[in-house]
Amino acid sequence: MFCSGRGSNLQALINATRRGRLRARIVVVVSDQPKAFALVRAARAGIPTVVIQRAGVPSRNVFDRRLIAALAPHRVRLICLAGFMRVLSPAFVRQFPRRILNIHPALLPAFPGAHAVRDALAWGAKVTGVTVHLVDEEVDHGPIVLQEAVAIRPGETESSLLARVHRVEHRLYPLAVQSLLAGRLRLRGRSATVRAT
Ligand code: GAR
Repeated sequence: MFCSGRGSNLQALINATRRGRLRARIVVVVSDQPKAFALVRAARAGIPTVVIQRAGVPSRNVFDRRLIAALAPHRVRLICLAGFMRVLSPAFVRQFPRRILNIHPALLPAFPGAHAVRDALAWGAKVTGVTVHLVDEEVDHGPIVLQEAVAIRPGETESSLLARVHRVEHRLYPLAVQSLLAGRLRLRGRSATVRAT
C-alpha cells in the first residue's frame, strides 16, 4: 500500500484481513511522508514500512525507480494507493499493468485532483461519492471498479461530508481489493465488471 497521510483506508484493509473479509497479506507500506500516521498504523500491525521522500530526488522517474526497488523484495501482486499524493509516472504504471488500484473521494470523472470533497461542496453538487479504479497512465482516469454515491445534505460542512465519504471508502476498498485478487474482475476496454462470487 502507498499512503501519504492518515492511513484510515490502510486501517480498513488491515481490519478486513483480520476479519477474514479480505484474503490478502499487506506486505509493505510505502510513504513519501515520514510523518504519515499510516506508518504508525502499519508498524502497529507488524507491516514493514519504507519511506521514500521526493525532496532531493532529481526527477519523478528516479523517485519512481526507488519505489519499484522498494517493492522488489516483497513480491507484490497488487499496489493499493490510499491517499498517496504523488502522481506515478507512466513508466511506473507500465511495470504493474492492471495491478494498481486507487481510491478517490468523488464520483470520477467528476472532481478529480487532491481536494475532491471540498471541490464537490464548493460546486454545490447534490451528490458526490467514492470511486475505486484501476490506475492507468493518466491521472484519476483508469477503469472504474466500484463506485458509490454519497448525498450532500443541506448545511453540509466539509468535515461532515468527509466523515460520510470515508465510511463508504472503508467499506468499498476492501471489497474492490478482494474482487480483484479473487479474479472476479473482468475488463473490457474501460468497462470493468465485478462478479458477485
Ligand atoms: C482518502 O479520502 C482518499 O480517497 C483520498 O485521500 C484520503 C486518504 O485518507 N485520496 C485522494 O484524494 C486522491 N486524489 P486516508 O489516509 O485516511 O486513507
